[in-house]
Amino acid sequence: MNTFLSFPKNFLWGAATASYQIEGGWNEDGKGESIWDRFSHTPGKVKNGDTGDAACDHYHRWAEDIQLMQEIGLKAYRFSIAWTRVLPAGRGKVNQPGLDFYSHLVDVLLKAGIIPFVTLYHWDLPQALQEEGGWAARSTAEAFSEYADTVTHCLGDRVKHWITHNEPSVVTMDGYLNGEHAPGIQDFPTALKTSHHLLLSHGWSIPIIRQNSPDAEAGIALNVNWTVPASNSAYDRDLQRREQGIWCRWFLDPLYGRGYPADIVADATAEGYLPHNCLNYVQDGDMQAIAMPTDFLGVNYYTRFITREHDKPDNLPEETTASPEGKEHWTDMGWEVYPDGLFNVLAWLYFDYQPVKIFITENGASYSDGPNTEGRVHDHHRIDYLHSHFTAAHRAVQAGIPLEGYFVWSLLDNFEWAEGYSQRFGLVWVDYSSLERKLKDSALWYKKVIAKNRLELLTDIQSTNQVTG
Ligand code: FCB
Repeated sequence: MNTFLSFPKNFLWGAATASYQIEGGWNEDGKGESIWDRFSHTPGKVKNGDTGDAACDHYHRWAEDIQLMQEIGLKAYRFSIAWTRVLPAGRGKVNQPGLDFYSHLVDVLLKAGIIPFVTLYHWDLPQALQEEGGWAARSTAEAFSEYADTVTHCLGDRVKHWITHNEPSVVTMDGYLNGEHAPGIQDFPTALKTSHHLLLSHGWSIPIIRQNSPDAEAGIALNVNWTVPASNSAYDRDLQRREQGIWCRWFLDPLYGRGYPADIVADATAEGYLPHNCLNYVQDGDMQAIAMPTDFLGVNYYTRFITREHDKPDNLPEETTASPEGKEHWTDMGWEVYPDGLFNVLAWLYFDYQPVKIFITENGASYSDGPNTEGRVHDHHRIDYLHSHFTAAHRAVQAGIPLEGYFVWSLLDNFEWAEGYSQRFGLVWVDYSSLERKLKDSALWYKKVIAKNRLELLTDIQSTNQVTG
């Protein structure tokens, strides 16, 4: 009997980061202000008043970080470009040192044998564009085309994997509906426009990427968690439909040529958020542009959501799907560990939408373990989390789903948005005072998985012990 799960040859094992979360150097070398600079500098917005001003200081320590990637044996690295380093005012004058930073990073990654996956937009919009309405304004989508053109023109000869946007639903919902993220707006109609302009900018940029980066693959990264009703009641099922509708189908359906989901449009109209069942900001040709074919779908998966609201009606049946109890089922973010959901999501996406191929562009867990007295970080919960999710990914490959790579979130502990530095997702520990880095046990374990391109089963306990012992 096999005691391991082998992954396909050339499976791309990677790790991911995002510019604002790791770079620091927030106003260096001509960089402009982004909405996350503004938001984190506004008292009360981010836990403990944390900011990304210095973050992991990757802007200065990138060479050391590439060495860490090499030590882990990463085949690929996903990072994002800070728009404001390249175009400080969002459009117009290019800031050459900003572009040079990324160009150099790409050169050194390639030299190290690591394939760069570049995300154009991971939430740090230029503040100058926010002043003009941010993503609620169509002109921001136009500015994004200029930005995409500038970046792909410079890096397109060497970067062959492009991700236009990271999680447009989070930008929409957290940035413009509940206001927990920058720019901190709370307005449903504005959020709907935002989602459209994000999608439109994605679609518009695909031909630009293709032109500037021959033979490259381009796609988008969506967060798709697994959503299930708490019971079979009509109420819980309707809530599931709505949640999954607004977070997932609202983005997937237009991207795959189906237009906006009619049920969600009807809900929004009924609730008065849309006038007369009409998306009046959608112009001729927009839906075709959004549905521009892509080469892959990026999937960010973390957890399962069980739909039942606190202010539920009294007469609901007992929950048949309940959240489990016990610390081992929960990460420090308060997200349930639910690896089957990864398989379910991949199967749903592939069999329903038929993307050409899929990369898991983010998956990982927040656990706060730090160095012990010998300086070792025994983050065995993270190893367990990754092990169970890699197993689910393997099952997906076995089921015929064209999953071609897996990016662990995250390479480094970093600035976790509204949570500041209170949540640690890294394979690598970062001491935020000294900025010293240290491979956690999970990184050493991941190194073995990558080196063998397989996941040990029975012997795994043993190999974990070797790492942690
Ligand atoms: C995702 C984000 C990423 C990180 C993880 C934990 O939603 O894309 O930047 O914050 O969550």
